[in-house]
Amino acid sequence: MFCTPVRHMAAAARQSLKFGLIPADGIGKEVIPAAQRVLEAIGSDIPKPEFVPLLAGWEVFTRTGVALPDETVEVLRECDGALFGAVSSPSRIVTGYSSPIVALRKKLDLYANVRPVASVAASPEVKPNVDLVVVRENTECLYVKQETTTTTEDGGIEARATRLITQRASRRIGKMAFDIALGRPRKQVTIIHKSNVLSVTDGLFREMVRGVPSLPEVNGRFDGVKIEEQLVDSAVYRLFREPQIYDVMVAPNLYGDIISDAAAALVGSLGLVPSVNAGDNFVMGEPVHGSAPDIEGKGIANPLASIRSAALMLRFLGYPVGADSIDRAVDQVIREGEFLTPDLGGKSGTEDVLNAVLKKL
Ligand code: NAI
Ligand code: MG
Repeated sequence: MFCTPVRHMAAAARQSLKFGLIPADGIGKEVIPAAQRVLEAIGSDIPKPEFVPLLAGWEVFTRTGVALPDETVEVLRECDGALFGAVSSPSRIVTGYSSPIVALRKKLDLYANVRPVASVAASPEVKPNVDLVVVRENTECLYVKQETTTTTEDGGIEARATRLITQRASRRIGKMAFDIALGRPRKQVTIIHKSNVLSVTDGLFREMVRGVPSLPEVNGRFDGVKIEEQLVDSAVYRLFREPQIYDVMVAPNLYGDIISDAAAALVGSLGLVPSVNAGDNFVMGEPVHGSAPDIEGKGIANPLASIRSAALMLRFLGYPVGADSIDRAVDQVIREGEFLTPDLGGKSGTEDVLNAVLKKL
């Protein structure tokens, strides 16, 4: 469990909360409705939730030629929060298509992707006592998608990608990481980088994050937070050998993406790991997993990552009591092990797992 510092609104003053729901593609359409049912069921711990269904993704692109309709972004700006499922982005270039989730993160300035990974029940697939948070920069790095190709003198093709790291984005993600660490028992931030090779870009990231505690505007409030750092490759090695050493890991976009999927393997399944995309004014919950075309439509997608993403969103919105009750219910269902989807070795379907969580609430 961890507390987050971002308060997007005066929680007490609200009569209702409006959430945009973007299931998008594949199992997103199966797991986001489950998260909605949980938000509807928690009752008085949060103001009455209202939901607005919104479109984005590959399927809507194939129908309309637009992957992220303007209306979706406009409506989201009037919402208190949102839940996003997953998109089925093709691995090849498709003219006119660009991933709507990457675009949404930019348009709404959701600069932090926060991904807590914790082990709950012991099993051969689960490393015990893992309790870490990956704080991934969400707007820069190689994901600025500035890629070009040219023809070389020998007639071959050369492809290049630009990697953008700025002082501003590195500082603000650093602040987010320190703030999150401050609300956790161990109060430790590990900066993940590769500045021995990429000394300019990763060098800047490392220096900016390291410098956060001495910024005048933070007024010394991070003085009690311990700073560690680790090169990304050996960080992955240590993540598998001794994941318990990590508390908050802060990383540029690509490393953070990879590390969080890897960390998910430590706790049993990608289907368990939640995230939020957070900015100073908006927060959008999103399971870490993708659209899982291999299990789409079979009714066996694990809804727990999305349900936990809803809880994490509530935490960022200033409703820790509602978030705690959801997380407690999910943890109980995992510990009891009676209703689990096949990714966790169980035989239950999405609906059974959802009902088990609803019963615990
Ligand atoms: P994936 O996360 O969709 O699936 C990886 C493996 O984990 C699959 O075997 C899948 O069945 C399993 N899995 C994932 N979520 C699960 C759940 N909730 N319950 C049970 N099993 C689960 O990653 P993959 O296969 O690399 O990508 C598939 C598609 O998803 C691609 O088109 C990719 O572009 C997209 N994707 C979208 C993301 C997003 O919208 N943020 C993130 C990652 C991938
Ligand atoms: Mg990913």
